Amino acid sequence: MTLQQAELEETDVAHDEELPAAIRAIRTRRSGHNFDPDAELDDETLEALIRDAALAPSSYNLQPWEFVAVQDDDRIDEIVDLAYGQEHIREAGTAILVVGHTEAETADRVFDEWEDAGRMDEETADQTKAQTVEMYDDDQMGRDLGIRNASLAAENLLLSAHARGLKATPMIGFDQAGISELVGLPENKIPVMLISVGPSGGEEPERLPRRDVAEILHRESY
Ligand SMILES: Cc1cc2nc3c(=O)[nH]c(=O)nc-3n(C[C@H](O)[C@H](O)[C@H](O)COP(=O)(O)O)c2cc1C
Repeated sequence: MTLQQAELEETDVAHDEELPAAIRAIRTRRSGHNFDPDAELDDETLEALIRDAALAPSSYNLQPWEFVAVQDDDRIDEIVDLAYGQEHIREAGTAILVVGHTEAETADRVFDEWEDAGRMDEETADQTKAQTVEMYDDDQMGRDLGIRNASLAAENLLLSAHARGLKATPMIGFDQAGISELVGLPENKIPVMLISVGPSGGEEPERLPRRDVAEILHRESY
């Protein structure tokens, strides 16, 4: 059996109760456009999604991310326009903008936490903080770090939504400057991903094929 065949079979049994729930969630998560326009995301679930997103790993645990949840009908209309008419955002009823930091603005607090927990001595914490701040000071690197870290939080949010029986779709098909202005993002924060999220309105079309493991896995060197 090739890896691809094995993988397909695994996908077929993705709902198998014997699989760990996290693996089932990974294998059955979908991006979708079929939301229930009459159902809403409640506050408690919204906060649970953000809590799960915030459990994503981040470099030195800086957690350089924030989230802007938009649910107001007029503002959702504006977001649909800025997302080139993606109607599923209106049907979902909630759009969450995952925001990345381009500066190490949590560094003071986070490196104190490393030190207070006894995981770094004072000298190491000070040195590592200085290096981290310097790394973020490079414009390109600051953006890269913001995007890398916040993207992991975005994926956590997608999986959490899916595991809770919701539908969530990640998007970068939107006017970045326009969305940043709409939600009032400061200059040093970037819109990393927009996620439409809400109760499902039904099935999605079958998933498009994934590239074969043999095609994407390189062993020892590229
Ligand atoms: C960075 C990124 C940008 C995306 N942008 C959009 C988008 O603007 N609109 C949309 O409907 N889906 C968007 N998607 C969803 C992809 O189309 C989807 O993940 C892909 O087709 C695979 O399908 P699946 O997520 O159901 O497995 C985006 C996904 C990613 C990761």
